[in-house]
Amino acid sequence: MPKTAVIAPPEAPKDCDICPRLAGFIAANRVAHPDWYNGAVPSFGDATGRLLIVGLAPGLQGANKTGRPFTGDYAGDLLYSTLDKYGLSTGKFQARPDDGLKLKDTLITNAVRCVPPENKPTGAEIVACRQFLISRIAAMPKLKVMLALGRIAHDSTVRALGAKPNASVFGHAKRYVIAGPNGPLILHDSYHCSRYNTNTGRLTTEMFHNVFAAIRRDLDA
Ligand code: URA
Repeated sequence: MPKTAVIAPPEAPKDCDICPRLAGFIAANRVAHPDWYNGAVPSFGDATGRLLIVGLAPGLQGANKTGRPFTGDYAGDLLYSTLDKYGLSTGKFQARPDDGLKLKDTLITNAVRCVPPENKPTGAEIVACRQFLISRIAAMPKLKVMLALGRIAHDSTVRALGAKPNASVFGHAKRYVIAGPNGPLILHDSYHCSRYNTNTGRLTTEMFHNVFAAIRRDLDA
Protein backbone atom coordinates (compact mmCIF):
# COMPACT_ATOMS: atom_id res chain seq x y z
CA MET A 1 0.00 0.00 0.00
CA PRO A 2 1.29 3.51 -0.76
CA LYS A 3 2.35 5.58 2.26
CA THR A 4 1.03 9.12 2.74
CA ALA A 5 3.19 12.20 3.43
CA VAL A 6 1.95 14.63 6.11
CA ILE A 7 2.36 17.93 4.25
CA ALA A 8 3.17 17.65 0.58
CA PRO A 9 5.26 20.15 -1.37
CA PRO A 10 3.97 21.06 -4.86
CA GLU A 11 6.57 18.77 -6.40
CA ALA A 12 7.31 15.18 -5.43
CA PRO A 13 10.96 14.49 -4.61
CA LYS A 14 12.75 12.82 -7.53
CA ASP A 15 13.27 9.69 -5.42
CA CYS A 16 9.72 9.64 -4.04
CA ASP A 17 8.99 6.26 -2.45
CA ILE A 18 5.35 6.74 -1.44
CA CYS A 19 4.15 4.15 -3.96
CA PRO A 20 6.26 0.97 -3.66
CA ARG A 21 5.19 -0.42 -7.05
CA LEU A 22 6.12 2.78 -8.89
CA ALA A 23 9.37 3.21 -6.96
CA GLY A 24 10.26 -0.41 -7.79
CA PHE A 25 9.47 0.12 -11.48
CA ILE A 26 11.68 3.19 -11.59
CA ALA A 27 14.47 1.37 -9.74
CA ALA A 28 14.37 -1.42 -12.34
CA ASN A 29 14.51 1.14 -15.14
CA ARG A 30 17.43 2.88 -13.45
CA VAL A 31 19.36 -0.42 -13.72
CA ALA A 32 18.26 -1.09 -17.30
CA HIS A 33 18.67 2.52 -18.48
CA PRO A 34 21.08 4.39 -16.20
CA ASP A 35 21.22 7.30 -18.66
CA TRP A 36 17.46 8.02 -18.36
CA TYR A 37 15.95 10.48 -15.88
CA ASN A 38 14.10 7.74 -13.92
CA GLY A 39 12.35 9.65 -11.14
CA ALA A 40 9.24 11.60 -10.20
CA VAL A 41 8.91 14.13 -13.02
CA PRO A 42 8.49 17.76 -11.90
CA SER A 43 5.94 20.13 -13.42
CA PHE A 44 7.21 22.21 -16.33
CA GLY A 45 6.55 25.82 -17.21
CA ASP A 46 5.39 28.95 -15.43
CA ALA A 47 4.44 28.26 -11.81
CA THR A 48 2.92 31.74 -11.64
CA GLY A 49 0.85 31.14 -14.77
CA ARG A 50 -2.92 31.26 -15.12
CA LEU A 51 -3.24 27.91 -16.92
CA LEU A 52 -2.48 24.50 -15.40
CA ILE A 53 -2.54 21.45 -17.68
CA VAL A 54 -2.92 18.13 -15.90
CA GLY A 55 -1.76 15.00 -17.73
CA LEU A 56 -1.98 11.41 -16.62
CA ALA A 57 1.54 10.24 -15.79
CA PRO A 58 5.02 10.23 -17.36
CA GLY A 59 5.46 7.94 -20.35
CA LEU A 60 8.22 5.35 -19.98
CA GLN A 61 10.23 6.51 -22.97
CA GLY A 62 8.94 10.08 -22.80
CA ALA A 63 8.95 12.07 -19.57
CA ASN A 64 10.52 9.25 -17.55
CA LYS A 65 13.43 9.23 -19.97
CA THR A 66 13.82 12.96 -20.52
CA GLY A 67 12.62 14.34 -17.14
CA ARG A 68 10.14 16.82 -18.68
CA PRO A 69 6.39 16.19 -18.99
CA PHE A 70 5.20 15.16 -22.46
CA THR A 71 8.72 15.30 -23.84
CA GLY A 72 9.94 12.41 -25.97
CA ASP A 73 6.66 10.70 -26.80
CA TYR A 74 3.93 11.29 -29.37
CA ALA A 75 1.51 12.95 -26.93
CA GLY A 76 3.95 15.83 -26.54
CA ASP A 77 4.13 16.54 -30.28
CA LEU A 78 0.43 17.43 -30.39
CA LEU A 79 0.38 19.17 -27.01
CA TYR A 80 3.39 21.40 -27.60
CA SER A 81 2.46 22.31 -31.19
CA THR A 82 -0.97 23.32 -29.87
CA LEU A 83 0.53 25.44 -27.08
CA ASP A 84 2.58 27.21 -29.73
CA LYS A 85 -0.49 27.79 -31.93
CA TYR A 86 -2.41 29.40 -29.07
CA GLY A 87 0.44 31.65 -27.92
CA LEU A 88 1.24 29.65 -24.80
CA SER A 89 4.90 28.96 -25.53
CA THR A 90 7.99 30.49 -27.06
CA GLY A 91 10.89 28.71 -28.71
CA LYS A 92 10.85 25.50 -30.71
CA PHE A 93 9.84 22.20 -29.16
CA GLN A 94 12.44 19.62 -30.11
CA ALA A 95 11.47 16.84 -27.69
CA ARG A 96 14.54 17.47 -25.52
CA PRO A 97 14.54 19.12 -22.09
CA ASP A 98 17.37 21.41 -23.29
CA ASP A 99 15.53 22.60 -26.42
CA GLY A 100 15.02 26.05 -24.87
CA LEU A 101 11.21 25.85 -25.05
CA LYS A 102 9.48 28.18 -22.55
CA LEU A 103 5.84 28.05 -21.59
CA LYS A 104 3.91 31.32 -21.32
CA ASP A 105 1.37 31.69 -18.52
CA THR A 106 1.16 27.88 -18.45
CA LEU A 107 2.35 25.01 -16.24
CA ILE A 108 2.15 21.33 -17.17
CA THR A 109 1.91 18.70 -14.46
CA ASN A 110 0.72 15.10 -14.12
CA ALA A 111 -1.90 13.51 -11.87
CA VAL A 112 0.70 10.84 -11.10
CA ARG A 113 4.30 12.01 -11.08
CA CYS A 114 6.05 8.63 -11.53
CA VAL A 115 5.88 6.40 -14.59
CA PRO A 116 3.44 3.53 -14.07
CA PRO A 117 3.89 0.13 -15.74
CA GLU A 118 1.84 -0.02 -18.96
CA ASN A 119 0.76 3.61 -18.45
CA LYS A 120 -1.75 2.46 -15.83
CA PRO A 121 -1.52 3.84 -12.30
CA THR A 122 -3.62 2.03 -9.69
CA GLY A 123 -6.40 3.82 -7.84
CA ALA A 124 -4.27 3.85 -4.69
CA GLU A 125 -1.37 5.46 -6.58
CA ILE A 126 -3.61 8.15 -8.00
CA VAL A 127 -4.92 8.90 -4.51
CA ALA A 128 -1.42 8.88 -2.99
CA CYS A 129 -0.06 11.31 -5.59
CA ARG A 130 -3.01 13.70 -5.32
CA GLN A 131 -1.39 15.46 -2.37
CA PHE A 132 1.13 16.96 -4.81
CA LEU A 133 -1.61 18.11 -7.17
CA ILE A 134 -3.46 19.73 -4.26
CA SER A 135 -0.30 21.58 -3.22
CA ARG A 136 0.52 22.48 -6.84
CA ILE A 137 -2.89 24.09 -7.35
CA ALA A 138 -2.69 25.95 -4.04
CA ALA A 139 0.79 27.27 -4.92
CA MET A 140 -0.39 28.98 -8.14
CA PRO A 141 -1.65 32.39 -6.99
CA LYS A 142 -2.93 33.52 -10.40
CA LEU A 143 -4.45 30.20 -11.47
CA LYS A 144 -7.63 30.75 -13.48
CA VAL A 145 -8.00 27.90 -15.96
CA MET A 146 -7.18 24.19 -15.81
CA LEU A 147 -7.15 21.55 -18.52
CA ALA A 148 -7.56 17.89 -17.62
CA LEU A 149 -6.23 15.50 -20.25
CA GLY A 150 -8.38 12.41 -19.88
CA ARG A 151 -10.71 11.02 -17.26
CA ILE A 152 -8.08 10.15 -14.64
CA ALA A 153 -6.65 13.67 -14.72
CA HIS A 154 -10.17 15.10 -14.58
CA ASP A 155 -11.30 12.97 -11.63
CA SER A 156 -8.11 13.60 -9.69
CA THR A 157 -8.35 17.35 -10.31
CA VAL A 158 -11.99 17.51 -9.22
CA ARG A 159 -11.15 15.57 -6.06
CA ALA A 160 -8.06 17.73 -5.47
CA LEU A 161 -10.39 20.73 -5.46
CA GLY A 162 -12.63 19.00 -2.94
CA ALA A 163 -15.58 19.11 -5.35
CA LYS A 164 -18.22 16.43 -5.75
CA PRO A 165 -17.22 14.16 -8.69
CA ASN A 166 -20.88 13.56 -9.64
CA ALA A 167 -21.44 17.28 -10.22
CA SER A 168 -18.72 17.47 -12.89
CA VAL A 169 -18.42 14.34 -14.97
CA PHE A 170 -15.56 13.99 -17.47
CA GLY A 171 -16.36 14.59 -21.13
CA HIS A 172 -14.41 15.89 -24.08
CA ALA A 173 -14.82 19.69 -24.47
CA LYS A 174 -16.75 19.98 -21.20
CA ARG A 175 -16.19 23.13 -19.15
CA TYR A 176 -16.87 23.52 -15.44
CA VAL A 177 -16.46 26.29 -12.90
CA ILE A 178 -15.28 24.90 -9.56
CA ALA A 179 -14.26 26.66 -6.35
CA GLY A 180 -10.47 26.62 -5.90
CA PRO A 181 -8.27 27.48 -2.92
CA ASN A 182 -7.62 31.01 -4.25
CA GLY A 183 -10.93 31.68 -6.06
CA PRO A 184 -13.12 30.11 -8.76
CA LEU A 185 -11.37 27.96 -11.37
CA ILE A 186 -12.49 27.02 -14.86
CA LEU A 187 -11.86 23.36 -15.67
CA HIS A 188 -11.75 22.26 -19.32
CA ASP A 189 -11.67 18.60 -20.33
CA SER A 190 -10.11 16.97 -23.35
CA TYR A 191 -9.54 13.40 -24.37
CA HIS A 192 -5.88 12.67 -23.69
CA CYS A 193 -3.65 13.57 -26.64
CA SER A 194 -2.14 10.06 -26.68
CA ARG A 195 -1.12 8.31 -29.87
CA TYR A 196 -3.86 5.72 -29.21
CA ASN A 197 -6.61 8.39 -29.09
CA THR A 198 -5.38 10.19 -32.19
CA ASN A 199 -4.73 6.99 -34.18
CA THR A 200 -8.23 5.71 -33.46
CA GLY A 201 -9.79 9.07 -34.35
CA ARG A 202 -11.23 9.51 -30.86
CA LEU A 203 -9.31 12.79 -30.70
CA THR A 204 -8.58 14.78 -33.85
CA THR A 205 -6.22 17.73 -34.05
CA GLU A 206 -9.24 19.94 -34.72
CA MET A 207 -11.02 18.68 -31.58
CA PHE A 208 -7.91 19.37 -29.51
CA HIS A 209 -7.46 22.82 -31.04
CA ASN A 210 -11.09 23.68 -30.31
CA VAL A 211 -10.53 22.98 -26.61
CA PHE A 212 -7.53 25.31 -26.64
CA ALA A 213 -9.51 27.97 -28.49
CA ALA A 214 -12.00 27.86 -25.61
CA ILE A 215 -9.18 28.03 -23.07
CA ARG A 216 -7.68 31.00 -24.93
CA ARG A 217 -11.06 32.79 -24.77
CA ASP A 218 -11.25 32.19 -21.02
CA LEU A 219 -7.70 33.47 -20.49
CA ASP A 220 -8.41 36.56 -22.60
CA ALA A 221 -11.81 37.32 -21.06
N1 URA B 1 3.68 12.34 -20.78
C1 URA B 1 3.31 12.94 -19.64
O1 URA B 1 4.11 13.59 -18.97
N2 URA B 1 2.04 12.82 -19.25
C2 URA B 1 1.14 12.15 -19.94
O2 URA B 1 -0.01 12.11 -19.53
C3 URA B 1 1.55 11.53 -21.14
C4 URA B 1 2.82 11.64 -21.54
